[in-house]
Parts: sequence; structure tokens; C-alpha cells
Amino acid sequence: MSMVAANPIQERALSAGIDLSRLPVHVAVIMDGNGRWAESQGLNRLVGHTEGYRTLSKVLAMSADLGVKHLTVYGFSAENWRRPGDEVSGLMTLIADAAMAELQALQESNVRVRISGRVEEIPSPTREALTALETETASNTGIEFILAINYGGRAEIVDACRAAIAHGLTPDDISEESLSTLMYCPAVPDPDLMIRTAGEMRWSNFLIWEAAYAELFVTQTNWPEFGESDLFEAVLQFQNRTRKFGGLTEA
Ligand code: IPE
Ligand code: IPE
Ligand code: MG
Repeated sequence: MSMVAANPIQERALSAGIDLSRLPVHVAVIMDGNGRWAESQGLNRLVGHTEGYRTLSKVLAMSADLGVKHLTVYGFSAENWRRPGDEVSGLMTLIADAAMAELQALQESNVRVRISGRVEEIPSPTREALTALETETASNTGIEFILAINYGGRAEIVDACRAAIAHGLTPDDISEESLSTLMYCPAVPDPDLMIRTAGEMRWSNFLIWEAAYAELFVTQTNWPEFGESDLFEAVLQFQNRTRKFGGLTEA
């Protein structure tokens, strides 16, 4: 099935060879390499995170225009608290400021925001800015933007098990389906494509449960320099893969 481009990014995607009828529905991104990018420019790591935020607003807009329905990004892992205090507090301030600064633009572009992670452990000004973003965009109907903050994949599975016990589930009630409904974002389909920037070939505890059959794309590009051509390359590679889900043919 061929599709007509609805906007300039779709036109460029078509020219790049992307099939608009077979886009990944849910894209997940491990936005890595902010620190390395900053260090390569002789800048403070926090400048790298600020540039990373600029990249993120562009990639969100790009993904929405392209036609991706859900975008999940790893903003701060449950393990990132191990970093030096000034980097952690700088990141928390950046996240709070960005959440407040972006609210109006997100409303105007009809983006629905969800926060994924142990939100209750996020220090208060940042937590409030994030939950406001989630509440105020809750009725938007455009792309769903899932921000993983204080997120750990194993922590999410632990929390799902705790919820199962709290809800009185018995061993017979436990199944892949029932546990899936207890994850942080049960209504969101599993990611089809997982992108990691800055070259590291690992998951770093991201979406351990949900990404069981995600197609992986790793680019050497550091996150602050990730752009349209990298996104197109990821989608093209995704479209050239054969997804078999354990069977012998394309599912
Ligand atoms: C990713 O960039 C952003 C966060 C983890 C918050 P890094 O800060 O991990 O950048 P590198 O890996 O040190 O280059
Ligand atoms: C993963 O990157 C977390 C985020 C991108 C927020 P890290 O830089 O923390 O991962 P490791 O330490 O290289 O595994
Ligand atoms: Mg890193």
C-alpha cells in the first residue's frame, strides 16, 4: 500500500525510501552520549544534557509528523542516582524547567505525556512539574510521549509483582497477559523499534519486559547530534528486518 505524504517530513521520508504504511507504531529511545558530546567540545556535561533536551523536542516533533503513535524516551534511569550530586541535581533542574517550558507547545501540538518510573521518589519540584505535564495533557489525542524518569526495567517488574500480590492475584492468575496489565503503561503497545545512540550495545535496564521483541538500532551518533537522517535510517533498517516472533516467517 502506498501512501500520500501529509507533510514535509513524510515527503522526505518517502524520498528516503520509507514505507509510510509500515512505520513502527511505538519507538523507544535510549538517549545516550550527552556527556561524551559535551566532553568532546570541552564543555561541562550539563551543557550536553541541555543540548540533549533540544534534540528531544526536535525528535518528538519529527516522530509525530512522521506518524509514530507512541514515543518512549529514557530520560533518567533508576541507576543514574549513582552519578555525582551536581550532575544529578543539574539534571533534575533541567527536567523541571523543560517540563514547565514545554507545556504550552505540547498542548498546541496535541501531545499526550505520560511519566514512567518510580515517580514518588523523584524530588519534589521536578516531580510536580512532571505530574502537571501528565495531568494537563491527559485529554490530548496526538502522539503519546512517554518520559521514563527514575525508570528501571527490573524495578518495574518488581512493582508489577507487588501490585499483583496487593490485588490478591493467586499463582494461577499470574500470566504474561495479567502481568502486562500491571506495568507502568499497560495501555501502550510494546515498542517495535528500540534506538540507542552513542554506540553502546546494551539495554541498561530499559523496558526489559516490553522490549522482548523490539528491533534494535544502535547508532554511533551522540544524542545531541541525532537528527532526521538518523531517525530515517533507524526506520529504514526496521522496515528491512524480518520479524518472526519465534516462528519461521514474517508475523
Ligand atoms: C545520557 O547521556 C543522558 C543520561 C543518562 C541522563 P550520558 O550522560 O549517559 O552521556 P555519556 O554516556 O556519559 O556520554
Ligand atoms: C541509560 O544511559 C540511561 C539514560 C539514557 C537515561 P546510561 O549512560 O545511564 O547507561 P550506561 O551507564 O552506559 O549503561
Ligand atoms: Mg551514558
